[in-house]
Amino acid sequence: MSLQDEIIKIESSFNSDFDLLVSGKLKLEDIKYKYLGRKGFISNLYSLLSNVDNTEKPLLGKKINQLKINISNKIDSLVKADSISDNNINSFDFTLPGKKYNSGSIHPLTLIIDEIKNIFNKIGFSSIYGEEVETDYYNFESLNIPKHHPARDMQDTFYVSDEVLLRTHTSSSQVHFMEENNPPIRIISPGRVYRNEDISVRSYCLFHQIEGLYVDKKVTFSDLKGTLDYFAKQFFGPKTKTRFRPSYFPFTEPSAEMDVYWGLETESDHRITKGTGWLEILGCGMVNPEVFKAVDYDVEKWSGYAFGLGIERIAMLKYGIDDIRLLYEGDVNFLRQFK
Ligand code: PHE
Repeated sequence: MSLQDEIIKIESSFNSDFDLLVSGKLKLEDIKYKYLGRKGFISNLYSLLSNVDNTEKPLLGKKINQLKINISNKIDSLVKADSISDNNINSFDFTLPGKKYNSGSIHPLTLIIDEIKNIFNKIGFSSIYGEEVETDYYNFESLNIPKHHPARDMQDTFYVSDEVLLRTHTSSSQVHFMEENNPPIRIISPGRVYRNEDISVRSYCLFHQIEGLYVDKKVTFSDLKGTLDYFAKQFFGPKTKTRFRPSYFPFTEPSAEMDVYWGLETESDHRITKGTGWLEILGCGMVNPEVFKAVDYDVEKWSGYAFGLGIERIAMLKYGIDDIRLLYEGDVNFLRQFK
C-alpha cells in the first residue's frame, strides 16, 4: 500500500473511531494514544515517510501534518465541550436561591472597648494589657491600700490564696507598667475584673474596665478634666455635658467621679439616672505620690492622672440592654443583633 493510501486509510479509521468516541463507546485517552501517541498511527506515518521518493516527500509530509492537526483539533474540541458539561454550566439553574452562611458578630463589649481604644489611641495613648490573676501587692498594697484598709471593703475580692487573687480593677496594670517604663507615660489598659458580688440584673461577678494613666512633668487636674471631657464628646456626641464630683480612691488625690448628662426624657432615663439625669461612668484623680514611691519615681519631678472606666454600663446604655447577664451568656439570638 502506498503512503498516500495509508494516509487515507488512517483518516477514515479516525473518523469512525471519533464517532464511537462521541457516542461514548470509546475512551478519549485510548483514541489519543492510538493516533497521536509516541507509537501511534501518525508517528508511524512519519517514519514511513523516510522511505518515500524524495520528490514525493514534501507533498506527503504536508498531508500527514494536516491529518495530525485535524485529529488534534477534533479531539480538543471534544475535550472542551466535555469539560463544560462536567462543570454543569449548561445545566446550571441560575435562578436557584443561594446557600446561606451564618457569619459571626462582634460582641457588644468588644465593640465598645474598640471604640474607646480608638478615641484614646488618636490622642497618643497606647493600649497595654495586664494579668487577670494578680498578687495582693499589685492589686492593693502598691496602690496605697494596705492590709486592713477600709477601702478594701469597696471591692469584694475573690482570693486564690492569701497573696494571690483575681484583680478587682485594672489599676493593677498601672503599677506593672510604671515598674517597667519611665515617664512620660500615656497608656490605656482594657480588661476583665472580678468582684464577689451578688448576681442580678445590674451586677455580675466579672465586668470590664479601661484604665488610663498619664504621667509627665507638671500635669494638672485641668489636663485630666480636658481629656475626659474630650473623650465624652467623642464617644457620646459633641453636645455631651459632663460634670466632676469629688470622690475617694486611695491611689489618687484628689479623686473624682465623672458623670455624663443622660437626660430625663423617658421613664427608663429616670430609672437609670436615679431621677437626676446624670450618669456616673468613671472614677479618676491625680496619681497619689504614694503610688509613685512604690515604683521609684521621683515625686518632685513627676505628676500624673489616672482614670478607670466601667464598660458594661456604657454598653447597656448604648444598646438598650436591660439585664447585664445577657452580656455573658453567649446566647446567639442576643448576639446576632450586633452584626
Ligand atoms: N480602680 C477604680 C475602681 O475600680 C477606678 C479608678 C481608676 C479610680 C483610676 C481612679 C483612678 O473603682
